[in-house]
Amino acid sequence: MRALVVSDIHGNLHALEAVLKVARSCSGPGFDELWNLGDVVGYGARPNEVIDTLRSTPASRVIHVRGNHDRVCCGLSSSQGFNPVAAQAANWTRQHLRPENLDWLRALPMGPVPAGDGVLCVHGSPLHEDQYIASMRDAWIPLQRMPVDIAFFGHTHLQGAFSCRAEFWSEDPPAYVHGSGSQVQHFTLPLPVGARYLINPGGVGQPRDGDWRAAFAIYDQTERQVTFFRTPYDVQAAQAAIREARLPERLAARLTTGR
Ligand SMILES: [Fe+2]
Repeated sequence: MRALVVSDIHGNLHALEAVLKVARSCSGPGFDELWNLGDVVGYGARPNEVIDTLRSTPASRVIHVRGNHDRVCCGLSSSQGFNPVAAQAANWTRQHLRPENLDWLRALPMGPVPAGDGVLCVHGSPLHEDQYIASMRDAWIPLQRMPVDIAFFGHTHLQGAFSCRAEFWSEDPPAYVHGSGSQVQHFTLPLPVGARYLINPGGVGQPRDGDWRAAFAIYDQTERQVTFFRTPYDVQAAQAAIREARLPERLAARLTTGR
């Protein structure tokens, strides 16, 4: 079984379409299941189209987890605590979502959501849906306390993994080959039995690790490995949509830098 794992799409249809195209054409069977770790909307200018695409993507099983932007954009939470740009984008998104997509967002489950075979899907952390895991310092306690050996998480928009085996721990960012930043790249991380893993596929629609390419991962349950991917997409088109919608310029500009 291979699961396409996506997170933090944030209304960026152009990035999502590139991800699906690459994931479907991966060597081998592509993917069987689709796991979405949340923040489908907010920031980007195509929230309805992103939801429609996710809902119509063929997969033998689909897992969704709600993100904090999903909650705010559908009115389940207030935007208190959001910075002004995020709050403005959430308001715009709420005003532009079709009623059925607002309902779909409101029905998304809070993580952790079991994916079976000792795997969890969460937005922030296995311990709390809004917790940020951006460093080993953040990851250490969730790695100890989570009830499974593997959890996929998002929220930080930073691609990579944290792992521990007994008292040994490591951070495992994908080691892409330098100099190929405008191409599709992938990096496979084996997941040996006996260790615990927190794995972030990265942000599809608004990466924040300095790489502008859309990020995602394929989890291969049979081979017990995860492959991280980066793929170029039509950033200019995504930026034009944001500007046309009169969303804050910062949301368009940051897509170029991946920051
Ligand atoms: Fe996010």
